[in-house]
Amino acid sequence: MSGIHQEKVLILDFGAQTTQLIARRVREARVYCEIHPCNLPLADIKAFAPKGIILSGGPASVYAEGAPTVDSGIFEMGVPILGICYGMQIITHLMGGQVARGKKREYGPAKLSIQTGAGPFRELEISEEQQVWMSHGDRIEKMPEGFAVMAVSPNSPVAAMGDVGRRIYGVQFHPEVHHTPQGAAMLGSFVLGECGCQPIWTMHNFADATIADFKERLAGQKVLCALSGGVDSSVVALLLHKAIGKDLTAVFVDNGVLRAGEVSEVAGVFRDVFGMNLVVVNAADRFLDKLKGVTDPEIKRRIIGHTFIDVFEEEAAKIGKVDYLAQGTLYPDVIESVSFKGPSATIKSHHNVGGLPEKMRLQLVEPLRELFKDECREVGRELGLPENIVSRQPFPGPGLAIRIMGEVTKARLETLRQADAIVQEEMRGARLYHKVWQSFAVLAPVKTVGVMGDERTYEDVIALRIVDSVDAMTADWSRVPYELLAKMSTRIINEVKGVNRVVYDISSKPPATIEWE
Ligand code: XMP
Repeated sequence: MSGIHQEKVLILDFGAQTTQLIARRVREARVYCEIHPCNLPLADIKAFAPKGIILSGGPASVYAEGAPTVDSGIFEMGVPILGICYGMQIITHLMGGQVARGKKREYGPAKLSIQTGAGPFRELEISEEQQVWMSHGDRIEKMPEGFAVMAVSPNSPVAAMGDVGRRIYGVQFHPEVHHTPQGAAMLGSFVLGECGCQPIWTMHNFADATIADFKERLAGQKVLCALSGGVDSSVVALLLHKAIGKDLTAVFVDNGVLRAGEVSEVAGVFRDVFGMNLVVVNAADRFLDKLKGVTDPEIKRRIIGHTFIDVFEEEAAKIGKVDYLAQGTLYPDVIESVSFKGPSATIKSHHNVGGLPEKMRLQLVEPLRELFKDECREVGRELGLPENIVSRQPFPGPGLAIRIMGEVTKARLETLRQADAIVQEEMRGARLYHKVWQSFAVLAPVKTVGVMGDERTYEDVIALRIVDSVDAMTADWSRVPYELLAKMSTRIINEVKGVNRVVYDISSKPPATIEWE
């Protein structure tokens, strides 16, 4: 798969929260890039053979003890370098300039006046006056030799600097964030114009290259993958299906805690439309038996995880010899484990097929390891995956089991499925399904009193959970129109037997979580 990776940029991470955004913007310019820790050895940096290097921001001060640094050998490599915020300060520090604590911390929007149209500013479309986003305490007191001011802002006499001859640049602001409206153009200008990368990183090219690579590498090998109906596993399965056809077996386990219509939808798309070798395992009763009497959320999760592995292994054994297990690991998971901060506290505890490859002694294929989620969706579209799968909201592995408080029973599942289907239908009808992060129903089996006709009722509560989020780490309840909530409530109470009350969950994360369990 060398072709599409030839034109590449290296991003060295100094621990900024926005480092991934730099990579996203570079990829949007259709240039491949990778994030590595700033202390990557020079030999490895050279071996990576980047056409340009970007130094990220970071929370430290260059003079602080143990402040992260980079091998100054990069300045001799002859490739263009762009330092962002801390990245600019470390360039200054290492090349003999001076960084000092600014009198005023600059945080928020600033007006940038560009003076030199080089490096990130070489595109003429970038007008001279720009709104940019600043977030720094330290500032450049004295530039290293050979550098000149390229832009100023009211609080930063050196808002951007450059040694045009050596093609080394620094910007004090953050071009990677949306609050810098022309930031993506600046990064694009740097990687395409200054570094001379060809814009060949397209998801069309990625899909072609991956399929061609698998055709060669996996010829005659048997590959197994777990299909969940979510976008990641769907894209993995399709890439492999296109490469090796019937040598791929996709296994979809009906664990009894799926949403209404999910099994037939998945079978319809993958088996009937794509002609995939798909095994649908009806293991609903097995899961529900194990869940009988269980009320603890963590135990529910564990039971579902373990049972899934057992079922999956049994299916694999029926297929006979298998060489590889395909998984939908995405690039953010890969970065988590290599980032400068070390194994971060945010590593997900949600890995649904975790432990499988070791247990089954299989080699792994992870075709999405280099992709961000939106790139994965794009590949899905390239491969003809229907839009309702491509832009699906996340759905947890333990499914409806963690949306029913207390014991999971068939009757409760039926109630929740009906209510949830109404939520999905109304969200789509109101054209809000794709605007929110997640929207679903939760069943709180506390009985409350109601009145229907002349009768007193004593029935369950359904909670509506609709949240906005960018990465699920934080979330806020969505301010959807009252009319929509009213419609959902009326429909659920009228159409779903056993429910006489609907409430809207107005908790943010933190301190609440998105799911109720
Ligand atoms: P919480 O409830 O922790 O959820 O705010 C954050 C995101 O993760 C999803 N989630 C899961 N996904 N297996 C999954 O694959 C799980 O066990 C699991 N638990 C929560 C949740 O839907 C939300 O998008």
